[in-house]
This record gives sequence, C-alpha cells and structure tokens, in this order.
Amino acid sequence: MSVPDVEVTADFYGRVLGLRIQHDLPGGGLRLGWGAGHHVIDLTPGETGLSHYGFEVRDDDGITKITERVKAAGYACTELPQSFIDYPIGSPHGIAVVDPDGTTVHFHGAVERQGENAADPGRRPIKFQHITVGTVNVEPMAKFFVNVVGFRISDQLEDGRFAWLRSNRDHHTLAVVNVGRAGILDHYSYDLAEWENFKTWCDRLTDAGVTVSWGPGRHGPGNNLFIFFEDPAGNHVELSAEMEKFHDDRVTYVARQWKPIPSSVNLWGGQLPHWRKTSQED
Ligand SMILES: [Fe+2]
Repeated sequence: MSVPDVEVTADFYGRVLGLRIQHDLPGGGLRLGWGAGHHVIDLTPGETGLSHYGFEVRDDDGITKITERVKAAGYACTELPQSFIDYPIGSPHGIAVVDPDGTTVHFHGAVERQGENAADPGRRPIKFQHITVGTVNVEPMAKFFVNVVGFRISDQLEDGRFAWLRSNRDHHTLAVVNVGRAGILDHYSYDLAEWENFKTWCDRLTDAGVTVSWGPGRHGPGNNLFIFFEDPAGNHVELSAEMEKFHDDRVTYVARQWKPIPSSVNLWGGQLPHWRKTSQED
C-alpha cells in the first residue's frame, strides 16, 4: 500500500496489530510482518493507494500452472522482483501479473514461516485473510481470477456489483466490488480465532484511540463475523472470524445470488458505513 506517512502508519500497525518492521524498502518504504518469513504488508510513500497484492500458492505445481494459464491468456507475466525473494527464511519465488484493472498481483510459492501462527488471538490476529479490491466492473476481474488463475465464485450480489471468490477452503480469499473506481483497495481483512476475541479487540482498539467504525456484525456472504476500523492512511481494515468453509471437492456448488440490500452485507442490520453502498434498500 502507498500511504502518505510511512512511519506513522507502520507505528500504527505495530501498536494495533503487532506487525513488526522486517526491513526497509527502496524509496523510503517499510516491510511489515509477524515472526520471520514472508511479509504481510509493504508500506511505500505516496498518496493512499494499492500498489500490489499477492497470494501464496501452496500446490506444488501451482506457480507453474498459473504461469502457463496467464501466458496462454495473453497476460504479461514477469518473475517476482528480487526484493520479494530475498528473505532469510522461506523461498517465495513466483510471478507478477497485471490484473484487468492494471494493478500488479503476485503469486508466490509456499512460505516457511516461523512465529506467524503463534498468535495470542486477543492481541494479534491469526493471519492475513482476504483482500477486497474496488473496481468499476466486477466481471472482467472475476473472469480473470476464475478462468485464468483458478479461483471459484462463492457468492455474488445479484446486481453483479460484488463477487466473493475462493482459492482454498475459506469462503473467500478475494472479493471484488464495484465502487466506481478501479484498482483501489476497498478493504482487507485479518482473521481472529473466535467471537470471544471481538470484545477484547473492541476494548483494545478503544484503548488505542481507534474507533470501531463498523460492526460488530455478520456478513451474509461468508457468514463471517466482522468489525472494521481505519488505519492512519484511511484504509478500511477488517477483523473477521467464523468464515464459512467449503468442501466442494465433495459437492456440486452453484454460487448464490444475494439481494443487493444492506441486510445481505450485514445480517444483523444497522447502518452501513459511508463507503459501502448497495444498489437497493431493504
Ligand atoms: Fe471483507
């Protein structure tokens, strides 16, 4: 993510989420992660924006197969820059592709991590979980990720303005939403272990001077519990738990079409935040 103040934002992620600075990036950026191994986020100086996003591919031949499909579909595909490979632990070799909205997306191999999943879930999320990218047209992005990369659609809003896509057992590891601007970070999400952790997190965020700006609530698509808050750059950060799991190697699944109304986005009702609109009222 590019952010107006790298130091302030890095300090925030340290205090609030326990992310530590792993090392400097060229041009005044900072790389943040938990434990040792691949990073969670990169912060680079600039206007608030999404520079790239990435996925870990755990199948042995996953990177090879994605590379073949991306090239066959005519997308430019380059090796990951050395700065993404150069880790003391793990070997995240992979590729960089430009998605249909022009944002760079990385696919890298499995990472050996030390400490990342050793969370005290009341104090630190378990893991990065999903990114939701904003676009002006969901269909080309969804087609790219489904037909080329290999994701599956779990749920959609029936107006076609929101799609949730999965790449493992979790209901979504990526979502795409029409927000009237392409190539932006709509929000991104970290997993908590369980509902019990939410009260701890809401109290901790309050103590840290961070407003819980949406939730607690439960999403319809994914059935996950959530709260949201904002980082100093204005990015919407979600904490989530209980996401629906898919065992679709044993079932034929047809993506559900949810009504584009506020109570689909939050089953418990209440106000949506100003940045989340649905095309119909309840
Ligand atoms: Fe989300």
